[in-house]
Amino acid sequence: MATPSGWRRDGNLPNELTSFVGRTKLLITLRQRLQNPETRLVTLTGVGGVGKSRTALRIAHLEQNQFKDGVWFADLARLQDAGMVRHTIASALGIADQSSRSESDTLTEWVGDRHILLIIDTCEHLLEACTSLIDVLLDRAPNLRILATSRQSMQLPYEQVVNIPPLAVPGDDPAESLFSNESIQLFTARARAVVPDFVLDEKTIGSVAELCQRLDGIPLAIELAAVRLRALSVVQILTLLADRFSLLSGASRTALPRHQTLRAAIGWSHELCEPSERLLWARLSVFAGDFELDAARYVCSGDNLPAEDIMDLISSLVEKSILLSDGTPSGHRYRLIDTLRKYGEEWLEKLEDTDRIQKRHRDYYLQLAERGEQAWSGPRQVYWFMRTRLEQNNLRAAINYCLSTPGEAKTALDLLSSLWFMWVACGFSREGKLYLERALAANPKPSKERCKALWVISYICSHQGDTHGAIQHAERCSSEAMQVGDSAAVILATKMLGTAASLQGDLRKATALLGVAIEFHRGGGELNPGLLPAIVELSFVLTAQNETAEAEQLLQDCLNVCLQRGELWLRSYVYWAMSEAQLKSGRITEAATNAREGLRIKLHFHDVIGTLMCLEAMARIAVAEEQAMHAARLHGASEGNWRLFGLPLFGSPFFEEGHKQGVKECKRMIGDSAYQIHFQEGFQLSLEEATTLALDDGTTPGPFRK
Ligand SMILES: Nc1ncnc2c1ncn2[C@@H]1O[C@H](COP(=O)(O)OP(=O)(O)OP(=O)(O)O)[C@@H](O)[C@H]1O
Ligand SMILES: [Mg+2]
Repeated sequence: MATPSGWRRDGNLPNELTSFVGRTKLLITLRQRLQNPETRLVTLTGVGGVGKSRTALRIAHLEQNQFKDGVWFADLARLQDAGMVRHTIASALGIADQSSRSESDTLTEWVGDRHILLIIDTCEHLLEACTSLIDVLLDRAPNLRILATSRQSMQLPYEQVVNIPPLAVPGDDPAESLFSNESIQLFTARARAVVPDFVLDEKTIGSVAELCQRLDGIPLAIELAAVRLRALSVVQILTLLADRFSLLSGASRTALPRHQTLRAAIGWSHELCEPSERLLWARLSVFAGDFELDAARYVCSGDNLPAEDIMDLISSLVEKSILLSDGTPSGHRYRLIDTLRKYGEEWLEKLEDTDRIQKRHRDYYLQLAERGEQAWSGPRQVYWFMRTRLEQNNLRAAINYCLSTPGEAKTALDLLSSLWFMWVACGFSREGKLYLERALAANPKPSKERCKALWVISYICSHQGDTHGAIQHAERCSSEAMQVGDSAAVILATKMLGTAASLQGDLRKATALLGVAIEFHRGGGELNPGLLPAIVELSFVLTAQNETAEAEQLLQDCLNVCLQRGELWLRSYVYWAMSEAQLKSGRITEAATNAREGLRIKLHFHDVIGTLMCLEAMARIAVAEEQAMHAARLHGASEGNWRLFGLPLFGSPFFEEGHKQGVKECKRMIGDSAYQIHFQEGFQLSLEEATTLALDDGTTPGPFRK
């Protein structure tokens, strides 16, 4: 598995899985336009399968080094819910706002004056949501350029629409040699992937040229025809295709309208598939984005498709260019090209099997989420974080299925609650809350499932600094749990009330509630979330009351449990809380070591809030070490990033007090204006840069250490 890293700052481009052919002039024009400061939005339009997405991806790779803050790719192809457009784009940009602020504020603030190229692929089905978001983003972010792909233009005044024509076909330019024609080159490239010794010579070129003409130079149609070379000669392909087309165009040999050409080419490919391949193609259309073999095996097998055949059938579909295959560090993943996925979807509907397969898809991802939850507090935590992130699109599709299908709403609660670790520990609290609120509204009657969702949402609210919401949900959880006789949920609700009380600075109440939650946990129950976070939080409350020895003892016990279990995420909080206790008792060196360790672990996850808490601790340590400039930069970095990712220090008077004290100390040491200069330096830093700054131990000359 690749080195886990919570967030990236240089972009998130998918790989180019096949060679790119031709389009030389178009690429030059597009690059010139995107580099022109006047350009804001370029939209690539064109018929299905003509190459809009592929051209956008090519441009993205070519331009990667031209945009210092990265080229980012957001794929909206499978998104159905217009309300999730902002969130999907924010999440593609790696922004995980944990606060309850409006998402477009966060997004525009994050993009700010960064030099970014944002690709938004496939907008046509969500035009309104896309245009309003693009309008706001471009209005507020002067150095942002957007390259969108859509079958229709956005109708925005500053939009530059570039229509992607089909590839040039033989005869378009009478002076051109057939051998350098783009369509023929694409056919040849794909033919060689199928038949490695395929040669284009005087004998074959005439038929290939005619074939490309018949296919109107539409790349997807050419690719689908080329794979037929495995069994047929070019002349045979041409003859069969010509027959089929003349059938469709009423026996005249005139060309079909372009959109029908592609449809006919796809239909032809479909017919030439074995019945079992066709069935699999249809069933695979329920996946969102890419998927793994195990998932396909589970979701698509049964009813005429034995599980043991799935692998071979997938390979055949890859060979036929119906499926794309990508060898990622975490294993092979597969994906249907969008137009082909839609075709499969229609076919599945005709078979009246959509609901059953969607349910199986949901079941697979529900099981995955439940396995992730069970394994979360264990040695494979990073793996589960990575795995769940990889499946985020499919999880979203499963959640949407539950929320939009009568009779499935209760399962939405199960699925969403199992994923608590994604919402709380891995930076997706806004998304989790949004979905959980919908699921709770769809399930108004008290139940165990509802109780769990209620304490999860309370936990999320605390993370967002919304202590009012946290208390409200935890109290509801507690009273409904008593109604339905769910004692575990009562304990968790008590824990969540303790968390909210500690954030509000009500130390006595927090001590009592967390104490009760811990006491009742001793008999068993969940360790994370539950006992272990409660211990960390209680220790922090004890530290705040100057009972540092007791706090450290609790933390040492908790650390031992974490080490035994291989639990990493919580361990980072233990180190953080230990550093707070040690700092309070004047053991600065030990405090620094622990805070550093806590921060280092955070790098494995997308735990933005945890990272910011560690940065805050390191700033306080720098103050204690009288490194005022360093502390000022950390203050700046922390404030800049809190603004982007959440409510600073949860809006908690408890945490703010220590922060204010640190700022005052710093200013006393170096004066207001020097403080301001260093604060501003830090304020510019991304979270990743801020982490690097904080982890810099001063032994290597870095840009910020003087
Ligand atoms: N210039 C090219 N060189 C090589 N392959 C290409 C080229 N253009 C398109 N393709 C291939 O053709 C297929 C269809 O292209 P793509 O998915 O980009 O079409 P699209 O216009 O985005 O279609 P849709 O409207 O369905 O989203 C893909 O397999 C793509 O890799
Ligand atoms: Mg596309």
